[in-house]
Amino acid sequence: MEPRPHPDPTPAARRRALLAEPPFGEVFTDHMVTARWTPDDGWGRAVLEPFAPLRMSPAAVGLHYGQSVFEGFKAYRRGPDRAVVFRPADHGRRLAASARRMAVPALPTDLFTAATEALVRADLDWIPEGDDRSLYLRPVVFADEPHLALRPARSYLFLLLAFPTGNFFTGGQRAVTVAVSEEYVRAAPGGTGAAKCGGNYAGSYLAQEEAARRGADQVVWLDAVERRYVEELGGMNLFFVHGEGDRAELVTPPLTGTILPGVTRDTLITLARDRGMRVSEAPVSLADWREGCARGRITEVFACGTAARVTSVGKVLTGDGAWTVGEGVPGPVAGRLSALLAAVHRGEEPDPHHWCHV
Ligand code: COI
Repeated sequence: MEPRPHPDPTPAARRRALLAEPPFGEVFTDHMVTARWTPDDGWGRAVLEPFAPLRMSPAAVGLHYGQSVFEGFKAYRRGPDRAVVFRPADHGRRLAASARRMAVPALPTDLFTAATEALVRADLDWIPEGDDRSLYLRPVVFADEPHLALRPARSYLFLLLAFPTGNFFTGGQRAVTVAVSEEYVRAAPGGTGAAKCGGNYAGSYLAQEEAARRGADQVVWLDAVERRYVEELGGMNLFFVHGEGDRAELVTPPLTGTILPGVTRDTLITLARDRGMRVSEAPVSLADWREGCARGRITEVFACGTAARVTSVGKVLTGDGAWTVGEGVPGPVAGRLSALLAAVHRGEEPDPHHWCHV
């Protein structure tokens, strides 16, 4: 890695003030990593450089046709000069899978890992302390060739950025409200739903805005064909808890190709199964959700994602009514899984799957 350290990094006092209440995705660290792909040389050398605006052609393909894929993963502080990055290889693999779907050249795993290590080392002081704090890492690969013909681009830029973060949802620890999108769909079979590409998120903003106007935090997507089955939220996967206490079981919608294969989703499935909990990947209809809550069969529902971590859902809004999940407050199963995940990040739980990259 070729280092070009920031000549004038953020003063420590300002950085500490930013770390006290880090807003999601607004204040970036001092550095970023860049690498370029060309048809002759493939992926070139990665460079660690100061975080700064880019110069590129106004005709860059990524701007016009959305040929762009990204990831989100986190580094956690473990003492004054140590950090762990959570499941970087799995995020690297998912970035490669998204890239394949969008005809973007996949980034080699060693480049992804080297970029991650270089940025986390350079900006270690930007990792906040505390259980609900971390450094969010955002790799993106986009087409920057200036041409407007309809074909995959012949030049790409990889960027790795980082920002300190606390809770994704404002308002502290609370159960969120979700609104079902009945008019729009997120992903159809054969589409790009399983890829982490910019367009999936832009395509959800209108529904998200409408949900927010109704007082919801997130939009719930239904399947595009029958408009019957629950798929995911705007930026996170969903889990349904059946039963209580030792008999609680988890159900999450299966990865049919229209749902983002969440790394946190996979982590929670694995953590729960490792502890003897029953977890099934099975379709859940909106009617099941409503009736399950009414009859007390579904005791909790929670969302999960890198950004959202584990967040309980308290209330569901649809076009013809609303219902409360459980007591409408953060549930005990979500609480236990969230605490377990935090303990894995801190190194206080065994890590048999080697998820923590120190
Ligand atoms: C994440 O959880 O990291 C996401 O990518 C969701 C969103 C903030 C883009």
